[in-house]
Amino acid sequence: MSTKPQINVIVRLEDDLQAQLEAACNVRYLDFDASRADLLAAMQDAEGILLSPRVRGDAEFFDASPKLRVLSTTSVGYDPFDIPEATKHGVVVCHTPGVLTDAVANLTTSMVLNLALRIFENEAYVRGGGWAQNAPRPELGLDTKGKTFGVIGFGRIGQEVTRRMQALGMKTIWYDVFDTPHPAAPPSEFRPLEALLAESDFVSLHTNLDDSSHHLIGAAELATMKPTAYLINTARGGLVDQAALTQALQNGAIAGAGLDVLEKEPPTANDPIYTLPNVICFPHIGSATHETRRAMRELAVENLLAVLAGKRPPAPVNPEVLG
Ligand code: DGY
Repeated sequence: MSTKPQINVIVRLEDDLQAQLEAACNVRYLDFDASRADLLAAMQDAEGILLSPRVRGDAEFFDASPKLRVLSTTSVGYDPFDIPEATKHGVVVCHTPGVLTDAVANLTTSMVLNLALRIFENEAYVRGGGWAQNAPRPELGLDTKGKTFGVIGFGRIGQEVTRRMQALGMKTIWYDVFDTPHPAAPPSEFRPLEALLAESDFVSLHTNLDDSSHHLIGAAELATMKPTAYLINTARGGLVDQAALTQALQNGAIAGAGLDVLEKEPPTANDPIYTLPNVICFPHIGSATHETRRAMRELAVENLLAVLAGKRPPAPVNPEVLG
């Protein structure tokens, strides 16, 4: 009988990563669209699971996983997993911080430049024959130099975005639940949330989603922003009250938004937000480069194998479980 631990894998992996797992574990590959009942049944004997944040890890999930020691997600965000429940069940949750910082900072930068320079409007104008017909052009864009960029959430990604925005000539300010930045953070001024919202020409969200940050940006916060300001969200849809944002964008309370995340993903077919003329919306692609996704899967495999081998994983969310 095999003494290897049983694990479930519910993400697609490259052959070499599969081989790495199979050398150390009995691997059960679950269908990406496995039903909840099939997933829970497969958790009965599993000591580890490698998954994406599309799977919900709530009390029911942990109750159905009596042997589980490690849940390793191929994401930095761990909002779909109930961490206190995992800790109560003795399960180490691991994630992938650091390896996607540049990719998300690049996407954020692209949104800022696209909004400022009206790149999408101009491209649609040319593609739609507007230039060929010598039709009136879209409005002029904005310079970034001298504008103020407000970062909400001054962790790895918020700091990297700050560096890029400083390179674009912007004054940067930041808000976080803590007011002392990491020693390696770029020089940038702290502001209380309300002051940051009132002062910024661009407000960009880079914070975790949890109970305390749910709808951090609602009607009151949007009303505090300048009518000429833009909101960028490449973090989590739930940070923003989307109904309030839709209204603010429709009535001109703010100038526009760049969104890589929505409250409901994928959105419903009749969700107005992604067709508004002052919105650019991407389908949650912040980390979607070949190199970054590969690095995330590698780190997720490393996290899982370390816990199963009784070692400290590189990126635990609840290290207290490790003792
Ligand atoms: C993350 O890593 O959290 C990205 O948003 C992908 O889900």
